[in-house]
Amino acid sequence: MKNAISRRVLMGSALAAGASALMPGAARIAAAAPLTLTAAPATLPLVGGKWPNTKVWAYNGVAPGPEIRVRQGDTVRIVARNGLNQPTTVHWHGIRLPNAMDGVPDLTQEAIPPGGEFTYEFEALDAGSYWYHPHVNSTEQQDRGLAGALIVEEREPIRVDRDVTWVIDDWRLRQTAQIDEGFGQGMAMSHGGRIGNTVTVNGRVPAEFAVKSGERIRLRLINVANARTFGLNFGALKPRIVALDGQPVTPHEPANGRVVVAAAQRVDLVIDMSGEPGEKLQVIDDYLRGREYEFITIAHDEGRPLRDSPLDAPIALPRNPLPEPVIDDQAQRELIVLSGGAMGRMPPGVDNFIRQGQYWFLNDLPAKGREGKPIFSVPKGRTCVIGMVNETGWEHPMHLHGFAFRVLSRNGKPNMRGEWLDTVLVRRGETVEVAFVADNPGDWMFHCHILEHMAAGMSSFLRVA
Ligand code: C2O
Ligand code: CU
Repeated sequence: MKNAISRRVLMGSALAAGASALMPGAARIAAAAPLTLTAAPATLPLVGGKWPNTKVWAYNGVAPGPEIRVRQGDTVRIVARNGLNQPTTVHWHGIRLPNAMDGVPDLTQEAIPPGGEFTYEFEALDAGSYWYHPHVNSTEQQDRGLAGALIVEEREPIRVDRDVTWVIDDWRLRQTAQIDEGFGQGMAMSHGGRIGNTVTVNGRVPAEFAVKSGERIRLRLINVANARTFGLNFGALKPRIVALDGQPVTPHEPANGRVVVAAAQRVDLVIDMSGEPGEKLQVIDDYLRGREYEFITIAHDEGRPLRDSPLDAPIALPRNPLPEPVIDDQAQRELIVLSGGAMGRMPPGVDNFIRQGQYWFLNDLPAKGREGKPIFSVPKGRTCVIGMVNETGWEHPMHLHGFAFRVLSRNGKPNMRGEWLDTVLVRRGETVEVAFVADNPGDWMFHCHILEHMAAGMSSFLRVA
């Protein structure tokens, strides 16, 4: 298998042996005091080595943006400034917050004009791994580098030796190491979205990640790519999943040893670094059969192991205060059919939308066809059950703003793990049922997080009133 694996990197030679470990993406900022987040152009060494720096758009000069770390229960106050030449906003992905702070232009606020600013303020109700990104012209703004981690620490965190965040992304670069500017190209829009040719971890093409034998690491994976699903296989290291989309889950090993992180999803792992001193272990992304590549190398240092047997400490995280859905005949049941795209079912009478570049449909309408109306409304406080039926030829990470939902079933089979997510991957031909308590009033977006699909119509909102 080893020979079949090439680095999914445009400029392989940048990865000379001994290349440094990950550059930390950014400084950590405790947001007790207001933090200013300025979106503006920057130039950064994405690829490294002899390759030129890449022109990107960045928050506070770094891509990913600064990792914002707060404690559960803290009030987060962030002044977002727009140093771009087009409007922008900041959306706090996965965070439960007042609707007016959700960062969706025209729906929850006016977009921030060039030179303007907007102050976001919310309480960090739930501990976990979240992130932020613009919600304007996303296919371009997020692709150019506007995204960052928002970590809400538990009041009493689990015991680990290191708490590490990997913001993972992919970029479509030309041979000059500059971003290929063909945004919104028809092929990406109607197929699987804009897939890059260069994968980065914390804004650098990764080489080695240095660990100590016996070290226990909490690894927070945050997928900020426009479209790519990662499937990371840690081989002999046996990661345990402790949280999905920020929400604690019963610790378990991933199915088939592969940690799947679809666009916008987060996975928190606990990994005991079980290699011998000096041992190097490859992490392979084998999500796409025949297109496996080496994602990163975990390099155990030569020194003495940190401990002889794995740390004996609990890894289960405390639950967040989420309201529990009540699935009875009071619950409101909604069905959302996903259709369109290349090789998918096309609803009747949509030629006019297709001519406008709207190829994807939720209940037979693209975003442009909804004329500002919600896909459905639900009274405040009700449990809402949404069944999603994927009639397209592609997978879709479907995201609901402002809530976490429980995954009830897949293809009619009860989901015993009952994980909470805010972005659920609905595979080709699959039906997924989720439930949440609509306890927070407002207009909340519900869309595919493959940004090209969202831009090409697979987007809507629901109203809680
Ligand atoms: Cu990351 Cu509309 O969301
Ligand atoms: Cu999609």
